[in-house]
Amino acid sequence: MRIGVLTSGGDCPGLNAVIRSVVHRAVVDHGDEVIGFHDGWKGLLECDYRKLDLDSVGGILARGGTILGSSRVRPEHLRDGVERAKGHVADLGLDAIIPIGGEGTLKAAHLLSEAGLPIVGVPKTIDNDIACTDVTFGFDTAVGVATEALDRLKTTAESHQRVLIVEVMGRHTGWIALHSGMAAGAHAIVVPERPFDIGELTRVVGERFKAGKRFAIVVVAEGAKPVPGSMRWDEGGKDVYGHERFAGVARQLSTELEHRLGKEARPVILGHVQRGGTPTAYDRVLATRFGWHAVEAAHRGEFGMITSLRGTDITTVPLGRAVESLKTVPAERYAEAQCVL
Ligand code: F6P
Repeated sequence: MRIGVLTSGGDCPGLNAVIRSVVHRAVVDHGDEVIGFHDGWKGLLECDYRKLDLDSVGGILARGGTILGSSRVRPEHLRDGVERAKGHVADLGLDAIIPIGGEGTLKAAHLLSEAGLPIVGVPKTIDNDIACTDVTFGFDTAVGVATEALDRLKTTAESHQRVLIVEVMGRHTGWIALHSGMAAGAHAIVVPERPFDIGELTRVVGERFKAGKRFAIVVVAEGAKPVPGSMRWDEGGKDVYGHERFAGVARQLSTELEHRLGKEARPVILGHVQRGGTPTAYDRVLATRFGWHAVEAAHRGEFGMITSLRGTDITTVPLGRAVESLKTVPAERYAEAQCVL
């Protein structure tokens, strides 16, 4: 078999573990040939690739990022993208393509699969918001990074009697906010799934200070928004060069809380540090298992599927179902956190 692999969308700890696993299983166990496209779908569209052998994946298991590079280019964004991709797959004689990516990548994979390409997707994202898999690799690492940051921020917040509003990643869902906030014992957690009530947030933080505590930590997912009309809110817009500008929820919340509480507040934006660096053992194992099972699915001719973790088992589910909707935090999970607004 000749297999093409690519990593697309925002990078994520564990991508290299999947690439390594695909090469090990395919080349060593099945005698396949594997090529890796550079910079995601861009590599497939431009026929930019290299051959991957055992040597090329040596020592990458614990390495963050992706040795193949990534981009947010997608075939459907080009007028002839799908046709170009089909042409290159035929020219290269590929029997299977394994795209590793999040929501956008898997949507592109679904489109190409519907157009007849032999695809087995591997879901990845630190956001953990892909439906049809219990967990995505990268999430455990990101939660660990955010939790460590929260633990550290507590001591400086206490020294200065401050409110720290810590913004974590999560454009559409609050999985990282919920898990890191719970793990670090945050005093309030704000997620995109529920518009927050600024009055309630002010009350919760204020009660802490009234009770004699010297600081408060609020974890907020970057996509969180207030109940419409409840506070002055800047949706962002264009910067001076015409690029998208994000106003930032942590900045706006810290201004508002400082004003309402008369306590010093500071925004802390963790940003891409959550995506960088070495994956945890959990993420390495999950990524390795996904790679192994993707090759197996390809050999069974099970195309138009993604690998998925269900309980402790790896299975495959149709790409179409996986891209139908995002996996949001269910309401009952908030109750367990006790401090989700
Ligand atoms: O999809 C993962 C993610 O980390 C989001 O949580 C975040 O909003 C986004 O990627 C940031 O991506 P970029 O690399 O384009 O800044």
